[in-house]
Amino acid sequence: MKRYSGVAAALAAITTHAAGAAGAAVHQSNACCNALSKHPSLAGKVAYPDTALYSTRLDSYWSSSAALAPWCMVLPTATDEVSAVASVLSTNQCPFGIRSGGHSQWAGASSVQDGVTIDLGFFNSTTFDADRQVASIRPGSRWQGAYDTLEPFGVSVPGGRAGIVGVAGFTLGGGYSYYFNSLGFAADNVVNYEAVLADGQVVNASADENADLWHALKGSSGNLGLVTRFDIRTIPSIAIWGGLTTYELGSIDAVWQAFANFADNVDADPASQSIVYTIFVGGQFIVQSLLTNHDALDTAAAFAEFRTVPATGTTATVRTIADLANELSGGQPIGIHADWFVTQFKTDVRIMKFVAEQHTAMIETLQTLISPDAQLQTLCQFQPVSPSAVAKGKESGGNVMGLDAVVPDGKATTMFLFTAQVVTPEDEPTIIAHALDFIDKIDEFSKSLGQFIDWKFLNYAYKTQNPIASYGAQDVGLIKAAAAKYDPKGVFQKLRHSGFKIPA
Ligand SMILES: Cc1cc2nc3c(=O)[nH]c(=O)nc-3n(C[C@H](O)[C@H](O)[C@H](O)COP(=O)(O)OP(=O)(O)OC[C@H]3O[C@@H](n4cnc5c(N)ncnc54)[C@H](O)[C@@H]3O)c2cc1C
Ligand SMILES: *[C@@H]1O[C@H](CO)[C@@H](O)[C@H](O)[C@H]1NC(C)=O
Ligand SMILES: *[C@@H]1O[C@H](CO)[C@@H](O)[C@H](O)[C@H]1NC(C)=O
Repeated sequence: MKRYSGVAAALAAITTHAAGAAGAAVHQSNACCNALSKHPSLAGKVAYPDTALYSTRLDSYWSSSAALAPWCMVLPTATDEVSAVASVLSTNQCPFGIRSGGHSQWAGASSVQDGVTIDLGFFNSTTFDADRQVASIRPGSRWQGAYDTLEPFGVSVPGGRAGIVGVAGFTLGGGYSYYFNSLGFAADNVVNYEAVLADGQVVNASADENADLWHALKGSSGNLGLVTRFDIRTIPSIAIWGGLTTYELGSIDAVWQAFANFADNVDADPASQSIVYTIFVGGQFIVQSLLTNHDALDTAAAFAEFRTVPATGTTATVRTIADLANELSGGQPIGIHADWFVTQFKTDVRIMKFVAEQHTAMIETLQTLISPDAQLQTLCQFQPVSPSAVAKGKESGGNVMGLDAVVPDGKATTMFLFTAQVVTPEDEPTIIAHALDFIDKIDEFSKSLGQFIDWKFLNYAYKTQNPIASYGAQDVGLIKAAAAKYDPKGVFQKLRHSGFKIPA
């Protein structure tokens, strides 16, 4: 794994990646986009630069850092159309990127500059099979659309906590939901994937059919195929208690302590979940929690300590999942330059305090380096990865995320997410370099206490963090074996230019 010795090295590493070879690319771009346009299944489904559709789709990326402008976009809305796209791109050796909801953040996460972006955003329906209690969700759906469609049937699915997030990227990266402690990752609840392989072949992958692919798709992101349908076991309830609570800033250490005690006992009450964080926004720090109980209990014993911390306001109440997901979508406008970073450590208040101190120091430094118009906003967030969630994944047939190493002592460990955003793209390299240095400092500190966990949650990882390598050799081996069998020409390693790759 790449190590950075400091801000300067990190900055150098992110600003020196190669620009495309312009000359030959023009020729290939015409060949790829023309071949797509001419395919009988794809008439009218290719969007070119300087058209309204192309600009609207670029503007709809959650982080504008991720909105690379491709040669053209192709927007299939049915499985046979995705199959046509895969065979045209493979046959013509066209570089491509894959986008569903478009919520991953870094440049190159879900798009490609010198190539074709496969945009699945209009392939977004949800249906419910009451006999099997399974929801079939198309890749471009947002969770809000899925929850809203399922609500009249009185059921839900373990999906995004913010409704705007896309189903495909979220689920393929694992997916941390309101049901995490009870049901494991979202991926653990997928009973069948429909996937289009590199040569255009359509397959189902479940415990009974192509079981090795089913297993390997649970956490490996876009490395094996284009997933065109997620069949997810439903939850027979749409009710939840939850919301955001804001605390007095002076109580920050008490919030960290309440979180640490909650995390240490999380398996005693798997229906209750806790996220705590501090945000820097509008020049001020805020401390909040997102507490939820999926049995819709408003007085869960697991939150007793949180209730003793002086709060200035809360939105927590009994409501539908769709309603809570909608509240959490409202916080941030789309189209800002945002980047996310992740690390993991054993639950420890000393590390949480260290994070908060270093965060404050970093913000002071950044204010002297970036434009006064940057509108810098950052977030430091903690949430537990529980042994119950890891066990649930195994019971459900296993995933490839290497989770045994994440709960080594049979206790929950803490996932740390740092996010940073600015409206001034010229400040982004400075922000990224300091963010990577911040993560390094946290890792060094947790190592010094013997508390470091060598695992990176893919859905929160920055492009240089190599999350799949952190799953460990055994699970990487399973992903490689599935890739060798289902993508023997290595199309998703060579021609796919978006997202995380299988480590060499
Ligand atoms: C506001 C917000 C809240 C979030 N909350 C949570 C949360 O509660 N829990 C959590 O786990 N994560 C959360 N995330 C992170 C989120 O899971 C990731 O950003 C995820 O990638 C989003 O999925 P998407 O489809 O929108 O992403 P995209 O950016 O479209 O895709 C992400 C990756 O998946 C690949 N991919 C996309 N579709 C397919 C497909 N059909 N087949 C194969 N590969 C594909 C893409 O190439 C890309 O590499 C949140 C993100 C945001 C912005
Ligand atoms: C599917 O996407 C279209 C276009 O963005 C949108 O208008 C529609 O509401 C979405 N459908 C669902 C079920 O979310
Ligand atoms: C996949 O399964 C669905 C039903 O669950 C079926 O309709 C479809 O034909 C199957 N596809 C393939 C390629 O077997």
